[in-house]
Amino acid sequence: MKINLSLPILLFFLLALFSNLSLAKKETKVVGDPELKTCKHQCLQQQKYSEDDKLICLRSCDEYHGLKHEREKQIEEQIHEHEGSSEEHEEEEESSEKKEEQVEEGGEEEEEYPYIFEEDRDFDTKFETEDGRIRLLKKFTEKSELLKGIENIRLTIVEAKPHTFVAPRHFDSDVVLFNIKGRAVLGWVKESETEKFILESGDMLAIPAGTPLYIVNRDENEKLFLAMLHVPVSTPGKFQEFFGPGGRDPESFLSAFGWNVLQAALQSPKGQLEKLFNQQNGGSIFEISRKKVQEMAPKKTSWWPFGGPSTAEFNLFTKPPTFSNRHGRLTEVGPPDSRSLLEKLNIMLSFTNITMKSMSTIHYNSHATKIALVIDGKGHLQIVCPHISSRSNSKHEKSSPSNHRISADLKPGMLFVVPPGHPFVTFSSRKENLQIISFEINARDNKKFTFAGKDNIVSSMDDLAKELAFNYPSEIVNKIFDRKESFFFPFELPQSDPRADA
Ligand SMILES: *[C@@H]1O[C@H](CO)[C@@H](O)[C@H](O)[C@H]1NC(C)=O
Repeated sequence: MKINLSLPILLFFLLALFSNLSLAKKETKVVGDPELKTCKHQCLQQQKYSEDDKLICLRSCDEYHGLKHEREKQIEEQIHEHEGSSEEHEEEEESSEKKEEQVEEGGEEEEEYPYIFEEDRDFDTKFETEDGRIRLLKKFTEKSELLKGIENIRLTIVEAKPHTFVAPRHFDSDVVLFNIKGRAVLGWVKESETEKFILESGDMLAIPAGTPLYIVNRDENEKLFLAMLHVPVSTPGKFQEFFGPGGRDPESFLSAFGWNVLQAALQSPKGQLEKLFNQQNGGSIFEISRKKVQEMAPKKTSWWPFGGPSTAEFNLFTKPPTFSNRHGRLTEVGPPDSRSLLEKLNIMLSFTNITMKSMSTIHYNSHATKIALVIDGKGHLQIVCPHISSRSNSKHEKSSPSNHRISADLKPGMLFVVPPGHPFVTFSSRKENLQIISFEINARDNKKFTFAGKDNIVSSMDDLAKELAFNYPSEIVNKIFDRKESFFFPFELPQSDPRADA
């Protein structure tokens, strides 16, 4: 019994000793920091400061430095984690690593990661044939109650093999269709004719509810990937697919009517109608011949400007960017500039292409909830979320929320949600660009507030408020937050700090 007790005590003392040592080591390292010197120097130079003020100022320099050090350490760890995982070639190891991390951080996965959606775990396969499949993302509120604000939104991913036909259907939802990859023809059936759209990767079409449409993968070799964002018009959070007009599989909605009704409406004998409706049973997506694909995909008639097939509303990949530098590119289309259905749906579509070894600035959206889908490359995401710790049922209620970091490795097929007001950052791996498309829900009047770079909200804060908020001289705060680049930066740690020399 005694031995059992004294061992933990001994361990405790050793641990305490060790942590003291490491603390001491850290402090001695900090003293040499030129930035700290400048900070203290500034404190002593302030003529308006009393001796007490100077002491407080000096102390805040130290405190700030402790924090900065912590943060640097975190970033360093992050980079190492990140390097580790991006160099992993075995997917399995990667995911098991991630699980460990989740366990370490404690709590249930669902509780800890309400904003991260994995390709395999969070999608249900709605239709699957040999030639393709349609996967439906689980309801946002099924993942977490925190996502109630977008519970009406649903998302599907359509995958179709080369030269296949996605059978005609209509939805009781408005649809924002985005062509992620591949080449398609979309037949948009109107009251008196069918308009054919030629789609390339990056193309967007906003399709009103009820529009009958069919899709052809017109490529010989490449698989087609489409993202369809559904905004249901009748039942919130739920949309229906109506197949028609012909066929047994998928079953045409017409065949649900009684034979009497159909005979009367179509003026044909029952035998003939039965034959007609039972003929097609290729499923929701099926292969068609190369010849049929060619017939379906009309050639562009360049000699006559008004003829030929329509093209998409716009191509997100080729639109002039809202923001671009050598570390990344951001392209946005939506309210208030777009005259399309996007305006009415209040949705903005955006494309972020972060150059390898780069990062987006830390920022948040004022009004929009971002639903982001990783379409290419690898990288990492961090979101700050104050809800989580206050939601955890085990602990007492806190009067002020404590912030929690949600982090995830990003890879193609993954989806994440960033609610408004929640600061977040994304960065690319060391070897690949990170490419993300986002549907920003509630986009009107949305602003992006940034924390670093040109026009960041810390520098924009008036000096007095800033000094009160940081308890630190505003010039130094500005120096830290300002930088000449904006929005996208290289992801690298400062070598030595040249700004401290000033
Ligand atoms: C993203 O950027 C890279 C290089 O910066 C470029 O090669 C790639 O085509 C871009 N992606 C798209 C879809 O524009």
